[in-house]
Amino acid sequence: MADLIPIYYLGKKYMVPEGVTIMGAVEYSGHRLVRGCGCRGGFCGACATVFRVPGNHQIKVGLACQTRVENGMDIAILPYYPAQKVLYNLSAVKDPSQELQKLYPEMYRCLGCSACTKICPQDLPVMDIIAEAQRGNLPAVAELSFDCVMCGLCASRCLAQMVPYNIAMVARRLYAHFNLPRPGYVGARIREIEQGVYDQKIDDLLDKGQEELQKLYAERDIECI
Ligand code: FES
Repeated sequence: MADLIPIYYLGKKYMVPEGVTIMGAVEYSGHRLVRGCGCRGGFCGACATVFRVPGNHQIKVGLACQTRVENGMDIAILPYYPAQKVLYNLSAVKDPSQELQKLYPEMYRCLGCSACTKICPQDLPVMDIIAEAQRGNLPAVAELSFDCVMCGLCASRCLAQMVPYNIAMVARRLYAHFNLPRPGYVGARIREIEQGVYDQKIDDLLDKGQEELQKLYAERDIECI
């Protein structure tokens, strides 16, 4: 049996096993995470978390499914952060290198403070990503932001109030759409959908009640634990 240590979740004290993740500790404390919990493997970005540890004035961040608890840690999971997200039509784009500037002109308000880079739990160079976005350098933005899990923490700290992860996502989509070869299996899957191969399965799901859907969801295979 692991030793128990105190943590504070949303201001309330709980005793949890030493060495577990923040997510494990919160669930051990009796909370059911309906939001703020997805893949449990560090990929989906649903579990952005801010915390402080005793004796350190700094706000720290991490993914709840990846970060281990520490003695006296004071924790809040941020399952959602309000963020501007523009709509666009990739097929209508004439000049991809100019599109980011059109969609997110606020990126030129960047003050170069580097708060976004410092807070990124993936250690991505977020400020450099925005600098490349300002230049319209889509391959660089796509490459540098490839490991972004869209947790929202960069947007929570940006002094210019922009949303770096949404800007980077548009860049990756533009780059993929205009520069990369299209994999054959995508076309095959689209044809299957158009031919109605999945219609029956979708109809079956639509016919189920909420309880049955919840049971199916709870019993689904989870690849990353
Ligand atoms: S639950 Fe998906 S990144 Fe933590």
